[in-house]
Amino acid sequence: MKKVLTTLLALGLMATLAGCGNSGTKATDAGAATSSKQLIGVAMPTQSLQRWNQDGSNMKSALEAKGYKVELQYANNDVNTQTQQVENMITKGCKVLVVAAIDGSAMTDVLKKAADNNVKVVAYDRLIMKTPNVDYYATFDNFKVGVIQGQYIEKQLGLKDGKGPFNIELFGGSPDDNNATFFFNGAMSILQPYIDNGKLVVASGQKDFTKIAIQGWDSAKAQARMDNLITANYAKDKKLDVVLSPNDSLAIGIVASLKNAGYGSSDKPYPILTGQDCDKPNVIAMINKQQSMSIFKDTRTLASKVVEMVDSLVQGKEAAVNDTKTYNNGSKVVPSFLCDPVYADASNYKSILIDSGYYKEADLK
Ligand code: BGC
Repeated sequence: MKKVLTTLLALGLMATLAGCGNSGTKATDAGAATSSKQLIGVAMPTQSLQRWNQDGSNMKSALEAKGYKVELQYANNDVNTQTQQVENMITKGCKVLVVAAIDGSAMTDVLKKAADNNVKVVAYDRLIMKTPNVDYYATFDNFKVGVIQGQYIEKQLGLKDGKGPFNIELFGGSPDDNNATFFFNGAMSILQPYIDNGKLVVASGQKDFTKIAIQGWDSAKAQARMDNLITANYAKDKKLDVVLSPNDSLAIGIVASLKNAGYGSSDKPYPILTGQDCDKPNVIAMINKQQSMSIFKDTRTLASKVVEMVDSLVQGKEAAVNDTKTYNNGSKVVPSFLCDPVYADASNYKSILIDSGYYKEADLK
């Protein structure tokens, strides 16, 4: 009981802290009587990245604390596995599905089946594309994630003060994830003017999303691309000053490549490197000055928002949303709730990550 109370208190606190709690259009309050014994399906993409494990377990405990039963599945980043899992959730009688899609455009058929069975759907963190059968979307403001990464680079380099030119290389996320272009466009909204005026130089010339995207958010693919970029463009004395990485899994591969190429010494320090998720290995890399920053998206906050949506759907009520314009999935604009991302770096991670109870100092050794 004590644990449940602590979890609920933490969720409430985090929702307020992250500006996610009270800004919606309607409040909801599901009673245990409505939720008891209702089965909710939670489909997560993979256990290979820390964040999704946290998303899954936060969702499970927050739903269970409200009296729901939970069917939680991870799909090892395999689209067919995920489709199968969602189909099983429908067969098992789930009332609402919470889905973080692997391929946003691959759920059309299975969600038609959900609709035929009157099962409601919440897209979790990633928008589900090309279907009318998605009721709500809860995420962090994905464009703003990129903006914060771009602004971090702008500030660290003193670009606003006219400093430069600096050498930069750009990375993008997985092309089958709708978030990836939002992150990139957000970052480029800050960085493009400096590329245009020559203060940021992309020596490889690779600036289009299609050229820089890394399928499956795969660390090894990011490492291989960074290896190629270094070999082709940064041989001898030419030094890389900045790498735009959309998230932490790519940053891990990029650091490995940079390390192999001799970065990390006093005459050749690591370039400024962005990330997202504040996964433990990446926070450790920030403390060790290998990665500069990471966007913090508190998975507890997102879970509490999605639980509110589930409650509303179970009760046949409208859920609180704060964006009804941005997320068109090719079939309709999906009513969304966007939580607020912030950044962590070596200078503020203690207050952002430790004081909020997200990690313990001992986790980061
Ligand atoms: C999420 C990121 C995550 C990436 C890779 C994106 O959809 O928004 O937080 O790093 O997927 O899993």
